[in-house]
Amino acid sequence: MTRIVPLEDDTLDAAAVVQLTALLAELVRDDAALGWVDPPGVEEIEKLLKQLLAREPGDAHAVVAFVEEEVAGFGYWTRYPRPTHRPHADLEKLAVGTRFGGRGLGRALLRELIAGARTAGVEQLTLDFRGDNARAEKLYLSEGFREYGRLREFVAPADGRRLDKVLHVLDLREAGAPHA
Ligand SMILES: CC(C)(COP(=O)(O)OP(=O)(O)OC[C@H]1O[C@@H](n2cnc3c(N)ncnc32)[C@H](O)[C@@H]1OP(=O)(O)O)[C@@H](O)C(=O)NCCC(=O)NCCS
Repeated sequence: MTRIVPLEDDTLDAAAVVQLTALLAELVRDDAALGWVDPPGVEEIEKLLKQLLAREPGDAHAVVAFVEEEVAGFGYWTRYPRPTHRPHADLEKLAVGTRFGGRGLGRALLRELIAGARTAGVEQLTLDFRGDNARAEKLYLSEGFREYGRLREFVAPADGRRLDKVLHVLDLREAGAPHA
């Protein structure tokens, strides 16, 4: 059974945090562009979860996917801190464990994050990804995001490559926006 649940204080016990860390670490080791150069450790993930849980309602939204009782995916957005950007939020991470990929979890997490943004009154939801991530690009475009910019050769992994950073936005004010 698959479940997508919002992150709350009791969503992830210690064992589940270890599962989430292992899932993210494996993706980073396999060259996923999730913002980490080195695979994150449990302490770092605990700190991230704590920070997300400490945000005011409507200021951040995190979701977790479970398959049976195992952590299979994770994602979150946070509102922009800059006062003049407060109506908007940035989808900072979306990740599905390698073993759980290709069965609709990424799309389900993304839809839940979009629904949460809409409920919170977010006007524009932004995100970015690395230019070689065709899978993410296809997913985001199919959910209504559009490319608003591309920084050529901006992402510099440790191995010396230079890859584009692609910027997407979903305008939730548009009447015809998906899942309105
Ligand atoms: C991107 C990611 C979240 C997608 O999760 P997923 O659960 O595998 O995706 P889904 O099964 O929901 O598929 C969603 C769409 O992605 C695309 N997709 C999925 N697998 C794909 C593949 N092997 N090749 C190309 N596109 C693919 C398709 O458009 C698919 O929609 P469709 O099945 O209706 O055609 C996941 O691959 C991941 O965590 N990658 C590493 C981290 C990352 O890159 N995150 C996003 C950038 S921050």
